[in-house]
Amino acid sequence: MSRLIEKPIPVSDGHYMLKVEIGSPLPLPGQFVSIRVSEGSEPLLRRPFSIFNHEGGVASLIVKVVGTGTELLSRRGPGAIDLIGPLGSGFTIARDKKIFIAGGGVGNAPLYFLARALSESHCDVTYLYGARSEKYIYLENQFRRNAGHFILATDDGSSGTKGSVADIAAQILPGGQYDMIYTCGPAAMMEKITSLAGETPVEVSVENYFGCSIGLCSGCTIETSGGMKRACVDGPVFKGGDIRWKSMPD
Ligand SMILES: Cc1cc2nc3c(=O)[nH]c(=O)nc-3n(C[C@H](O)[C@H](O)[C@H](O)COP(=O)(O)OP(=O)(O)OC[C@H]3O[C@@H](n4cnc5c(N)ncnc54)[C@H](O)[C@@H]3O)c2cc1C
Ligand code: FES
Repeated sequence: MSRLIEKPIPVSDGHYMLKVEIGSPLPLPGQFVSIRVSEGSEPLLRRPFSIFNHEGGVASLIVKVVGTGTELLSRRGPGAIDLIGPLGSGFTIARDKKIFIAGGGVGNAPLYFLARALSESHCDVTYLYGARSEKYIYLENQFRRNAGHFILATDDGSSGTKGSVADIAAQILPGGQYDMIYTCGPAAMMEKITSLAGETPVEVSVENYFGCSIGLCSGCTIETSGGMKRACVDGPVFKGGDIRWKSMPD
């Protein structure tokens, strides 16, 4: 059994950081954990969360409260927690490359651990961090530390540049000066970034609905150029160009 080492820490409006002790194997950036959020029987299904960071055997997660499960999690006290993981595939960790990372809202969560690994492997990282509004920005300074160039954007202009991640990426990407692009956020945003990338490889992390998180229920199946794939075991990281975006839920 894993252990929540302290009470969830508020990091922005409706967003909490959870620190959990997890055993081996060591997680890779892009992998996730699946948590039984309640000590009772409701909700029955586990909930998936990306690994935000991992240091000294402790994984941190960012949880945005959207419904019953995340609300229950945000109010958990320290102690035993029923968690499985790390699960799924991780991002490719490039070396000595010029990188563009774009995250939208809670989609920034898996990209912190990624940006950290890329900067440790001597990549030059440009990070575009998008949020709907200033009050939803979490841990900005931590994100800044892993990026040679950091761009903050909010939809309403309350902090950083006014505009959506997709619109700002549209001003930056056509130059084509990056070796690799990574993104996580709403499907429409990831589709747009994939289309703007041209020949540059793109890796996306999809966050569609998961049932079991371990490949048994097919609830997370998405359409790709290689056929139907279960996002929990074949992903959640995919090549952006392989996804049939029209079939993805919003
Ligand atoms: C691989 C993966 C990684 C994820 N990483 C994170 C993360 O790091 N941090 C985080 O806060 N969330 C993350 N999510 C989303 C998170 O799992 C859901 O928000 C959570 O399961 C909702 O549970 P709930 O009981 O609070 O909401 P529910 O009561 O089940 O639903 C409440 C509302 O949220 C919507 N919703 C529920 N799940 C999703 C989803 N997967 N995508 C879009 N809308 C949804 C429902 O349609 C409903 O409107 C991730 C999802 C996946 C698949
Ligand atoms: S969530 Fe059950 S197979 Fe992926």
